[in-house]
Amino acid sequence: MRHFLNIADWSAPEMEALLKQAVYLKLEWQNGGNRPVLSGKLLAMIFQKPSLRTRVSFQVAMKHLGGDAIYLSSDEIGLGKRESIPDVARVLSGYVQGIVARVFSHDHLTQLAAAASVPIINGLSDSSHPCQAFADMLTLYEHFGTLRGLTIAYVGDSNNVVFSLGEAAARYGVALRVASPRGYQLSEAAIAHLRGMGLALSLTDDPRAAVEGVDCIYTDTWTSMGQEAEAEVRRRVFPPYQVNADLVRLAAKHVVVMHCLPAHRGEEITDEVADGAHSLIFQQAANRLHAQKAILARLLGS
Ligand code: CP
Ligand code: NVA
Repeated sequence: MRHFLNIADWSAPEMEALLKQAVYLKLEWQNGGNRPVLSGKLLAMIFQKPSLRTRVSFQVAMKHLGGDAIYLSSDEIGLGKRESIPDVARVLSGYVQGIVARVFSHDHLTQLAAAASVPIINGLSDSSHPCQAFADMLTLYEHFGTLRGLTIAYVGDSNNVVFSLGEAAARYGVALRVASPRGYQLSEAAIAHLRGMGLALSLTDDPRAAVEGVDCIYTDTWTSMGQEAEAEVRRRVFPPYQVNADLVRLAAKHVVVMHCLPAHRGEEITDEVADGAHSLIFQQAANRLHAQKAILARLLGS
């Protein structure tokens, strides 16, 4: 049984095939609609945290591919509280053909995958966000026509989004520079893991040095879901890491700016940059749909 828990679980040729599939399904959709390759298939969507893009793009992707989706808030099913996580996985496996889950602890995904007899897809955990990173690679591929040889500067908190971005970058031959303040940098284990995947990874606490000459500047919220108690402290630490017009000017002229969204405009990114000529953020959000379709077709298709 294949799952989509982390990009590291998928080889470079598999990720290459998935990218081609996403490009194909996007074109097919634009040319009048997708073939119903998931006809009669159902996806359960378990969310312990809020979501706009992930939830809606999975639901719409299932509809476009001829299937359907059921949303389950964690309060309703009491994942690990009302019922054990393995039992939830076993019961849902009797009703649906796949499960996407957004969780706090990544271990909850591993537990679901161990007990389920249907594929589990990581819709974001505290440690990774592989569906986002895959859609981001689709967006860069569309924009530049190639991925190999590109360099991304990620500026901000070293969170779940940059971890998966690093895994995806490793698979597609993209280099990554990460600029985070001290205390908010990737862990030694994450650095070793990403370099072990072959990622050309450099680390700094200087955002200006990081963006020099890069093809893409990427940022994300300073305070991720679940860290709300730290928001005030983070708001004092992170302002030098804001992606604003001054920072963008230091990158290559052709630089694109990405953000997984939701954006906290005026904090990690300014309106001027988010809505400016370099920004790909809404194309990036739209591509979640097409990327999700490729993952669903690969995992749930016959
Ligand atoms: N980028 C992303 O995953 O957005 P949501 O939290 O709205 O799903
Ligand atoms: N790092 C953010 C991403 C949201 C899509 C979070 O985990 O809240």
